[in-house]
Amino acid sequence: MTETRTRVGIIGAGPAGLLLSHLLAQAGIESIVIDSRTRDEIEHTIRAGILEHGTVRVLSESGASTRVLTDGHRHDGIELRFAGEGHRIDFRGLTGRSVWLYPQHEALKDLIATRLEHGQDLRFGVTASHIDDSDPARPVIVAADADGQRLEIAAEFVVGADGSHSVARAAVTGSQTGGYFREYPFAWFGILCEAPPSAPELIYSNSPNGFALISQRSATVQRMYLQCDPELDPSSMSDRQIWDDLQSRVDGHTLIEGPIFQRDVLRFRSFVAHELRKGRVALVGDAAHTVPPTGAKGMNLAIADVLLLNEALLALLLEGDERALDQYADAALRRIWKAQHFSWWMTSMLHVAPDATDFDRRRQLGELNMVVESEAGRRYLAEAYTGWPTDKA
Ligand code: DHB
Repeated sequence: MTETRTRVGIIGAGPAGLLLSHLLAQAGIESIVIDSRTRDEIEHTIRAGILEHGTVRVLSESGASTRVLTDGHRHDGIELRFAGEGHRIDFRGLTGRSVWLYPQHEALKDLIATRLEHGQDLRFGVTASHIDDSDPARPVIVAADADGQRLEIAAEFVVGADGSHSVARAAVTGSQTGGYFREYPFAWFGILCEAPPSAPELIYSNSPNGFALISQRSATVQRMYLQCDPELDPSSMSDRQIWDDLQSRVDGHTLIEGPIFQRDVLRFRSFVAHELRKGRVALVGDAAHTVPPTGAKGMNLAIADVLLLNEALLALLLEGDERALDQYADAALRRIWKAQHFSWWMTSMLHVAPDATDFDRRRQLGELNMVVESEAGRRYLAEAYTGWPTDKA
């Protein structure tokens, strides 16, 4: 068994854990980051691609990712499509803000490279089993490395940035599942294809056949999603069926087709843990909450948690001041529940529930018309999509 000490023990080398270690290091606070996955797995898992204004600012200004500004693409709006027509939501005109298309795994490549360059103790293939908080002032991460060798990391503070299957959650909420929870009767079928972009901006399309999202990755690779049954086997549809389905759902707009080289099904769920912090252990990112993907809030919300927790940890570890830490959960939850509402709202406004009646369908079109015909409606969507200011979560 190996025993190690550090100031902050971080479980999870996703965007939240890595950015937190980066910000702490800039303030002279050392940390250890562990993750059960390999570096290759982390850098190649396909996730969402939209970064809020504030996320881009922190990634670029802190030096965590310089490529976001050079390789990412600024998007000043989106198209909402329904009843055969497209309606542009002009983010920049309405809020002065934009979002950036930069896939999460690219941000992770930047973060990992930056942390390693700065000598971060970052350990892949190390699986945490639980947090031992029998001494509340000195929590210990109990883990095993790839060879099954037991490892204990004793810290002044432990952060669970370990995703939706978090093992840290039990130390904070008392159980693996303790939280508010909602499931949805549909999922997204996601594809990557070789083709040029079909439109200059993302298209969120509501149609009688269900929702479709036309997103992008590069000049030659595109990401698209279509609402599907959560039990759908991704190999059961032919390329022709997928394209016909996508084309029908963006009624009035023609997509440029190309070979499909990646397929996956994304489950929809909403979750918020009952507690975000207990003593010297706190949760950030998907360990604390999950949102459905519509509106791409997941990673952005994780980054917002990190900004708050970083401030609280600096006050605690540099000045012995616990006040910001005591406010961490309330401050983070304020934004988390706004993002839960936004993700739920975009989801329910754009998808067709399997049991939707004619009334539901017509009401939904009424709602969409209300949003696009009103400047207040468009601004409401634009403010939420581009992200609320991070200084007042
Ligand atoms: C993407 C994913 C989303 O959930 C979204 O709302 C927009 C874009 C994406 O993967 O590109």
